[in-house]
Amino acid sequence: MSKQIQLDAPSIGLLEKKYVLRALQEGFVSTYGPYVAEFERKFVGFIQGGYPVAVQSGTAALHLALYKLGIGPQDEVIVPALTFIASVNPVMYVGAKPVFVDVDALTWNISVEAIEKKITDKTKAIIVVHLYGNCCDMDRLTKLAHKYKLFLIEDATESLGSRFAGQHTGTFGDYGCFSFNGNKTVTTGGGGLILCRSSKVADHARHLVNQARPGTAYTHNEIGFNYRMTNLEASLGLAQLERLKGFVDKKRKFREIYEKETKGLPVRLQQEYEKAQSCFWLNAMTFENETVRAKIEKALIRAGIPFRRLFVPLPESTPYSSAEKKSLINTYDLYHRGLCLPSSVVNTEKNIQTVCRAIRKVLIEK
Ligand SMILES: Cc1ncc(COP(=O)(O)O)c(C=O)c1O
Repeated sequence: MSKQIQLDAPSIGLLEKKYVLRALQEGFVSTYGPYVAEFERKFVGFIQGGYPVAVQSGTAALHLALYKLGIGPQDEVIVPALTFIASVNPVMYVGAKPVFVDVDALTWNISVEAIEKKITDKTKAIIVVHLYGNCCDMDRLTKLAHKYKLFLIEDATESLGSRFAGQHTGTFGDYGCFSFNGNKTVTTGGGGLILCRSSKVADHARHLVNQARPGTAYTHNEIGFNYRMTNLEASLGLAQLERLKGFVDKKRKFREIYEKETKGLPVRLQQEYEKAQSCFWLNAMTFENETVRAKIEKALIRAGIPFRRLFVPLPESTPYSSAEKKSLINTYDLYHRGLCLPSSVVNTEKNIQTVCRAIRKVLIEK
């Protein structure tokens, strides 16, 4: 029997087992030990830019970025309405107000035109999300942030390995935030990383991450956080980083298959900007309308193929239900018509062809 097709499961192999076992045998399970620093070094070797601080999650990285920028009550932060809630909750953690804007119909990323309409005297920062791995238009966004003197935070939690004009996502903004959750291209079980623009800023972020504790003393000069990554997590991440290029190549190949096998059918894949090269963390597709999407869902369930709806527009979640919705036309339209499809690197190319066959069958029989 063929192995079950996976949506976004991680690939854990012999190398991961070897490195985690080594950390266990050496007793480096927690924060004292060499692997977190080694993980940060290797990460920057791949990303080619910035000053990294490994943390406990992508959410922690985003929180730290807003905290470090001094964003707080009275401030507004512009965010896309189509993203995971963790892109936005950190805005609330610092007491600021998230202002939701629509996404672009083709790339599904935050719309530059929509941002401009929502900038007020209170706007302090924009959080851009490279949704499902697809890079935002970093030329236009960096220019816009500069023009209005706004901070730019990149939520690169889904886009490790994606580039814009050859430069890695996460290296453009004031901060780049990454996640190594179990479903991400590289996993540490649960973890994240904040990429800073100077060693001084990174040193302070590292201090904050460790309860603002200098060395082993119990004297603290400010309020810190327990946002440290552990050696055990980092050891898993080190194995994953060695395999990262292969993971991205495979995900890009899957995208090619989705594109080729659905050519001529009434479906749309997330489009890349001209200068962008996505890692295609999660391949997703929109169908003609909700009825077709529902038919595809049924067919995939029957075939035992996993899938997921796109993120629910954030104003549909209770904490954000008072947000303005009328302008979020593309966000709602994409949500109604879209599905995320198997993209895990444990799949084979044949698995992806099987998914496409199931989709084609519904669309041709329709
Ligand atoms: C777009 C986005 N932002 C933020 C996060 C938060 O990352 P984490 O789960 O590591 O906190 C995730 C992933 O979970 C995400 O997909």
